Amino acid sequence: MSFLRLDSLHTTMVFDVNRAVPACCYWGPRLAADTPLAALQWQPVPPAVLDHPVGLNLLPETGRGWWGWPALSGCRGRFHWSNRFELSGCDASTNAIVFTLADAAAKLEIRLALDLDPDTGVLRQNCRLTNTGDDDYHLHWCAAAALPLPPDSDELLLYEGAWTKEFGLRRQPFPSGALVRDNCRGRTSHSRFPGVIAGQAGFDDRYGSVYGFHLGWSGNHRLVAEATSDGWRQVQLGELLMPGEMILAPGRSYTSPCAYACRAEGLNQLSQAWHRFLRKHILPAGVSRHPRPVQYNTWEAVYFDHRLQDLMALADRAADLGVERFVLDDGWFKGRRDDTRGLGDWEPDSGKFPDGLEPLISHVNRLGMSFGLWVEPEMVNPDSDLYRCHPDWVLHLDPLPRDTGRHQLVLDLARPEVSDYLFAALDGLLTAHPITYLKWDMNRDLTTAGHEGRAAYHSQVHALYGLVDRVRAAHPAVEIETCASGGGRVDFEILRRANRVWPSDSNDALERQVIQHGFSLFFPPEIMGCHVGPAVSHTTGRRLSLEFRGLTALAGHLGLELDLRELDAADVRMLKQIIAAYKDHRNLLHTGTFLRLNPSDKERLGWGVVGTDQREAVYGLFQLQTAAPGASPVVNLMGLIPGQRYRIARLLPIESGTAMFPIPEAPWAEEGLVATGQLLAEAGIAIPLRDPASGVLLKAVAV
Ligand code: DGJ
Repeated sequence: MSFLRLDSLHTTMVFDVNRAVPACCYWGPRLAADTPLAALQWQPVPPAVLDHPVGLNLLPETGRGWWGWPALSGCRGRFHWSNRFELSGCDASTNAIVFTLADAAAKLEIRLALDLDPDTGVLRQNCRLTNTGDDDYHLHWCAAAALPLPPDSDELLLYEGAWTKEFGLRRQPFPSGALVRDNCRGRTSHSRFPGVIAGQAGFDDRYGSVYGFHLGWSGNHRLVAEATSDGWRQVQLGELLMPGEMILAPGRSYTSPCAYACRAEGLNQLSQAWHRFLRKHILPAGVSRHPRPVQYNTWEAVYFDHRLQDLMALADRAADLGVERFVLDDGWFKGRRDDTRGLGDWEPDSGKFPDGLEPLISHVNRLGMSFGLWVEPEMVNPDSDLYRCHPDWVLHLDPLPRDTGRHQLVLDLARPEVSDYLFAALDGLLTAHPITYLKWDMNRDLTTAGHEGRAAYHSQVHALYGLVDRVRAAHPAVEIETCASGGGRVDFEILRRANRVWPSDSNDALERQVIQHGFSLFFPPEIMGCHVGPAVSHTTGRRLSLEFRGLTALAGHLGLELDLRELDAADVRMLKQIIAAYKDHRNLLHTGTFLRLNPSDKERLGWGVVGTDQREAVYGLFQLQTAAPGASPVVNLMGLIPGQRYRIARLLPIESGTAMFPIPEAPWAEEGLVATGQLLAEAGIAIPLRDPASGVLLKAVAV
């Protein structure tokens, strides 16, 4: 037997196992079961190179003559710096294959585990390296996956973000040579989300063969996209290790994080595969089981200025608007008057809450809302009782200075006494009060993260997972939101433990449109926290209408984060409409098939969610800037059953806007228009180009 196959609904992967190291020799549209595969085997030897073929395999190695980026690098002292593994075992089932390979000279064993989800076509792969020798092996790089791309993968879509500008996208030609993107900030990162998409030139939401990759890891990582001079293209993803961080003693193993990869036609199909995969295999069950409640968050309303009467007044107004969960953000614990002090001392501040949190929580519960609390367990301010008692509990590297970020240091979670302290603090709060939700924040990057002199980035991430898992096991009903100064920690591994993501500290709806668009490539709407912020954005100073802010926030898990005492009657009416529309449609929006619309006007962004039975759909279309010259108002509304008739009408806004030069609505906006799914997708429909920073939500219902 020289080939093994993994098949999903739309994809086939074929592995040639008749080689010393197996190679993925086909990864594309699903092949018929009886497809002869012999054509995949032949590897020509190019002129003027080695005398044997050196193709890209699942473990490209220098010792076999691979001149590109190797999947493994390390050494024993000065030796065994180059590898030559041989396949020693292969365990295949319908959807999974485990390859075992050994390098007898270097005394190493590798186990590559691959499984292809039959429904979505998402491949999950990781690698375990074991030192079978009798001295230490210093590991420098071990790719979780090294996967091939077809030669016509001519473009890359990469993430390039920053705080309040997360999930920005950058498209570029596939590099000649290697593009290496390292993240050494100790968390998933705002700037270098560990995901990339490669595809045929000009691929877009609808067209072009695309290959997506992601590393499920909340720490340092590396991504390599490489084209070699002899025509191979590969993507590697793995954990970025610091010097000396991973020294394997005899008999010890290193297990890489999981890499995820998926092939699709167009970006919409790719996103849909990720979304379904996350829903089925990664996200905690609670996300799909419970409708995502409308949240109120106190941060941009009161910041650190917590006064019981004010908070109660905000809760009253929130309940009146239809809010279902009230989240008390930063500022509630001992000594926390600003961001310079208090982190680590996880008990209510007696000045602000003389009777503890109970009066506020009871008030919130009496109003019919559940209560959530902000915490930042991994951090400590030097100005805190915890640090004064245990200055040795932080990650540090003597004699280097302990540099602070947002006035804080990072606790060394791999020390059992530190994780025990944090667990006890969180467990105490959750046991004492009916707190159903934690916003778990993390507000600084790691630097010189040392533990007893050694680099401790890897152990910190595992200890974090251990701590979150412990809290979740003790309090299974408590939901967790992952936040790291906004979207600094969003990846498939943290999402095994999180019900919601805070994608950005920017509540500026114009910025949010772009952030949410980038986020949607990998993540589904129901976990994307989207808040209606203040009229004048606190991060940009830009004033935007409540209508636009509300429509923008309807794309995800809706929340409000503004001072509700400042709303006038018209604002209240508008917010009630937004919240009512959310409640009426959240089931559809959070379980349906998401797609991005592809308006010709680059100043427009749009999305749609089609119900699983394709009986109804909601489409959102947003004009970000003044329409570009020559822009067409026509938008293709995809995803419906071609032969089915639908009535399509405006869902929101209910009242027309207040523009100086009002744009006439489509004549059908109010009463609706009947069209087939095919016509809506292929011919599209003209939706007037509106004012900058405005939007419209349409609803299609099968008739
Ligand atoms: C950063 C978060 O992203 C904000 O939403 C807020 O919770 C602050 N931290 C609180 O310090």
